[in-house]
Amino acid sequence: MKKIILVLCAILLVLFVVWLVVRFINISDATENSSDYKASYRDEKIVIYDIDDLENQAKEIIPAGGFDYIRGGAETESTMRRNELAFDMVDIYPRVLTGVNQPNTKTSILGINISLPVIVAPAAAHGLAHISAEAGSARGAAAAGTIMSVSTYASSTLEEIAQAGNGAPQWFQLYLSKDDVANRDLIMLAESLGYQAIILTVDAPIGGNRISDARNNFKFPLALPNVPKKSGKTKGQGIGAIFAAAQNELSPYDVMYVKSLTDLPVIVKGIQHPDDAEIAIMAGADAIWVSNHGGRQLDGAPAAFEVLGDIAKRVNNRVPIIFDSGVRRGQHIFKAIAMGADVVAIGRPVIYGLALGGWRGVVSVLDYLKTDLERVMWLAGTQNIDDIKNTELRQRCNLCSDK
Ligand SMILES: Cc1cc2nc3c(=O)[nH]c(=O)nc-3n(C[C@H](O)[C@H](O)[C@H](O)COP(=O)(O)O)c2cc1C
Repeated sequence: MKKIILVLCAILLVLFVVWLVVRFINISDATENSSDYKASYRDEKIVIYDIDDLENQAKEIIPAGGFDYIRGGAETESTMRRNELAFDMVDIYPRVLTGVNQPNTKTSILGINISLPVIVAPAAAHGLAHISAEAGSARGAAAAGTIMSVSTYASSTLEEIAQAGNGAPQWFQLYLSKDDVANRDLIMLAESLGYQAIILTVDAPIGGNRISDARNNFKFPLALPNVPKKSGKTKGQGIGAIFAAAQNELSPYDVMYVKSLTDLPVIVKGIQHPDDAEIAIMAGADAIWVSNHGGRQLDGAPAAFEVLGDIAKRVNNRVPIIFDSGVRRGQHIFKAIAMGADVVAIGRPVIYGLALGGWRGVVSVLDYLKTDLERVMWLAGTQNIDDIKNTELRQRCNLCSDK
């Protein structure tokens, strides 16, 4: 009897110690977000003349390390710069006398209706820009009538973001963990919260060489609460260390693996080569996301827009195409759709809008792009998104030999 009591006491003691440890981990995670990092708390519409202006305006209010992390690209940033410049390589051949009146920007992707062909790209740590973090961006995306994509490395929890979206469409972007249970649990959580697709990002088996982050010795001042606990702490880690803790070897089997974990559509993000689009589709991808991660991964790669046409040709309408990297104006959206994208996504402009005005700032960015696209559609003679898809772009040819 005495022995049994002793064993029971020992078990109770062990359980108590486990409870204390778990409690300590939770408390330290909660306090991680109360650091000295001072993100914006603005809450106002912003006046936008040009999306390109937002970067300098945001620089004034986002703490330097956070701003550099958001703005920066890999190495010389040549690919990042080219992302925007590449749109100038082709022209819109405008048509007039077409009877166009008040163009319609509504469209749909994977069965989801949206009011403009622009969605929010998944990006880590919106909390660097604004205290409302991804919850603020989600509220802005919902108010603008479009899809919010949520990174595994978000600084709001998936629950907070779903709640802020209030039923509006949201997609969850997965960085695969080395831990199968964690992958399954994250996908199940996203499903249970109503996220409508899983985005599997495949262009970041490791982090790109982001020199400004290295110079700044940038570490996340806030926790990334959706990263599986087993991957270790996120607050105080650089993005390189966080990528290193994730899955570093990716193959078509990973697409099949994610497909096996969910009935939601799986979108493969970070495709830059027609062969990879083919491989992803063969592995079961329900959509292809053409992107070079906003020039943050492999510097020296082509601009995303430069590879879009070849990929669209190979995909040949088998699955929808989402496009991002460098989209800043209506003509970029128009050109990407004419080149074969179904919708485009924006990364940095959303975060700058969030910093400058909270969720209302995000709405301002999306509304600006909608109005700008409407103007371009009207001036180019296209009434709706299908008309854009049927528009042929013209190679910039003023130096062609047959001229
Ligand atoms: C600060 C920042 C963080 C990002 N984090 C992620 C991420 O966690 N997952 C992901 O798939 N892409 C991430 N991206 C890439 C974006 O999804 C998108 O591909 C890119 O921002 C598009 O380029 P743009 O910023 O020129 O619009 C991030 C981009 C930025 C700027």
